[in-house]
Amino acid sequence: MKTTSIHGMWSSRMAFILAATGSAVGLGNIWRFPYITSENGGGAFVLVYLACILLMGLPLMLSEIMIGRRGRMSPVNSLKNLATESGSAKAWGGVGLIGIAAGFLILSFYSVVAGWTLYYAFHFFTQLFGASGIADPSATFAELLANPGRMTFWHGVFMVLTVGVVAMGVENGLERAVRVLMPLLFLLLLILLVYAATATDAFGQAVVFLFRPDFSRLDAGVVMTAMGQAFFTLSLGMGSIMTYGAYLSSQSSIPRVGLTVALADTGVALIAGLAIFPIVIAYGLSPEGGGPGLIFESLPLAFADMPFGIVYGLMFFLLLSVAAWTSSISLLEPGTAFFVEATRFSRRSVALVLAAVAWLAGLVSVLSLNVWQEVNVIGERNFMESAEYVANDIMLPLAGLFIAIFAGWVLSKTVSREELGERFPAWVYTGWLWLVRVATPLLILIVFAGKLGWF
Ligand code: PHE
Repeated sequence: MKTTSIHGMWSSRMAFILAATGSAVGLGNIWRFPYITSENGGGAFVLVYLACILLMGLPLMLSEIMIGRRGRMSPVNSLKNLATESGSAKAWGGVGLIGIAAGFLILSFYSVVAGWTLYYAFHFFTQLFGASGIADPSATFAELLANPGRMTFWHGVFMVLTVGVVAMGVENGLERAVRVLMPLLFLLLLILLVYAATATDAFGQAVVFLFRPDFSRLDAGVVMTAMGQAFFTLSLGMGSIMTYGAYLSSQSSIPRVGLTVALADTGVALIAGLAIFPIVIAYGLSPEGGGPGLIFESLPLAFADMPFGIVYGLMFFLLLSVAAWTSSISLLEPGTAFFVEATRFSRRSVALVLAAVAWLAGLVSVLSLNVWQEVNVIGERNFMESAEYVANDIMLPLAGLFIAIFAGWVLSKTVSREELGERFPAWVYTGWLWLVRVATPLLILIVFAGKLGWF
C-alpha cells in the first residue's frame, strides 16, 4: 500500500477539505442550482436533489476518495492497478478514461460560462470608477452572447488562471490557491446572505419557493436532472475527487472528510438559493422559469436599483468567479496527472497543452451561442447544451455507476474496510457498502430507464 503520490500530497486534512470543497462548490451551486430549481418548480426538485446527494452522492464520494487514496495515481491508473490487484480486468481503467473525457468536455464549456462571470465582475468593477452601469440587463447579456470575440477573450483569461495554478503543482499551486480563495468565498457568500435576509422582505417567499414541494411537478426528466445535478455539484463521476483523494494522507478519516465536503457543498447551494431568490422576488421578478440567464439578467436588474448595488454586484460576480476557478482547477488536474504518468512530459507542459485544447474546444460552445445558434446537435439542443447534457446527465452518472460497482463488488471488503476505517460503528461501513452495492447502481439504472421511456 503506497502512502504518497508521485504528484505531491496535501499538507493536512484541512487542505484536502478546502480543495475538495473548492472543487465541489462552483458554478454548479451558484449559477446552475438556482436556475434549474427555478425551471423545475422549486421545492419538489430540491427534495429529489437532496435525496440523490444522500443516497448516491455521499456513498460515491467516499468510494472515489477511497479508490484514489488506495491507488495514489490518476483515476485511470488507480482503477487499473486496484483492479489487477483484486484479480479483475485491467479494463476498469477505462472508467477513468470516461471520467477524464467528461472532465475535459465540462472544462471546455465551464470556462466559457466562467468567462461571463469574469466579464460581469469586471463590468461592475469599472462602474466603481464611474463607468456607466447596466441599464438593460437582458440587452447586456444578449449582447455578450452575440459577441464571440468578447466571450473568447474572457474564456481565455479564465483558462490562463486555471492552468497557472495547475502547472504549479499540488502543494505550490492547488493548495496555495484554495487556502486563500476558499475563505474569501465563504466570506462573500455570508455577506450576500445577510443582505438578502435583512434588506429585502421576500426572504420568507424564497424559503417557501425552495422548500415547499409541489409533487405534481415531478417526472422522469426532473428526476434525471436532479441526479445529474447531484453528480455535477459534488464533482463526482469524472475523477476530480478521486484524484484529490490520491493526495490525501493515509491518517485522515475518509467518512469524516467526505461528509464534511458533501455538507459544505449542499449548504452552499441552499445558501446561494437563499441569497438569490429573495432579491429576484423583491424586485418583482418571477422565481420560476429563470433559465441560464437568471443570475445574469434578473440579478443585475435588481442591483441597478439597490443601494450599494454596484458593490453588491461586484461581490456577487467575484464570488462566482472564485467558485468557478477552484472547480476548474479540479477539472484540469485528473487529465494532467494521467498524462504526466503516461508520457515523459512535465506537469507544466501537459497542463498547458490540455488547457489549450480545452480552450479551443470551448470555442465551439462560444460559437453555438451566436453564429451556430440554429444548429441543433442532440434534439433541440445547440452544441453547448448538448455537451452539457452528454457530460452531466450521461457520462457522469455512467462513470458513477461503474465506480459504485467497482467499490462495492470488485474491491475486496478487507481493502474497503481498511480504507474507510474501523473507528466507526459497524453500521457506517455496512450502510455504505449496501448503498454502493445496490441502491446507487439501481437508482442510476432506474433513472436512465425512465429517461429512455421504458416505463
Ligand atoms: N462541482 C463543480 C460545480 O458545482 C463542477 C465540477 C464538476 C467540478 C465536475 C469538477 C468536476 O460547479
